[in-house]
Amino acid sequence: MKFFIDTANLAHIKDANDLGILDGVTTNPSLMAKEGIKGNDAILNHYKTICELVDGDISAEVLSVTFDEMVAEGKILAAIHPNIVVKIPMTKDGIKAIKWFSDNGIRTNCTLVFSAGQAILAAKAGATYLSPFIGRLDDTNWDGVDLIAQIANIYAIQGFETQILAASIRNPLHIVKCAEAGADVCTCPLSSILGLLKHPLTDIGLAQFIEDAKKM
Ligand code: G3P
Repeated sequence: MKFFIDTANLAHIKDANDLGILDGVTTNPSLMAKEGIKGNDAILNHYKTICELVDGDISAEVLSVTFDEMVAEGKILAAIHPNIVVKIPMTKDGIKAIKWFSDNGIRTNCTLVFSAGQAILAAKAGATYLSPFIGRLDDTNWDGVDLIAQIANIYAIQGFETQILAASIRNPLHIVKCAEAGADVCTCPLSSILGLLKHPLTDIGLAQFIEDAKKM
């Protein structure tokens, strides 16, 4: 399973990248706004900076909602760097745009996915990545990890090549459960990635080893 970081925060991206286990970055308009990135030039420059920091796929989301505008905007985003993946929302125009990009050799990440039906449609359109938002499903009393397992099963049976990119990860256990359920990628906040490190018995064991090492 690939590890992406889900943020537009450069310090978090550097921190995760320094671990040596980072395969890419996902962003969205909310994450970009949170970092105070405003205006067209600033947005494009920010993506360029992320591409220079991380050697992996970088999702850049379109802000428009109509097919023509998404295609025009996606072409500009894709021209920033070969690692850019154009992120497109799961809408009727979005599916048309994903098909257009797929036919024209531009990779896509279909976002805001909450059902297996949407996952089938995105795969048929040729999406490179599919982003089911598992945390937001959990928030509404649906099991987000169950959806990952269902989509993984459908994609395996049908031979779809779209990669399942589990998104809206809220904690380290989400990452473990998504790995079990067959996600190809998990995109996580830095806190969830670092949370995987933690176990109290590791801390206790290390403290003991350090203490005993003094007696050696
Ligand atoms: O990758 C999607 C993610 O950014 C949404 O996360 O926590 O806002 O549901 P969240």
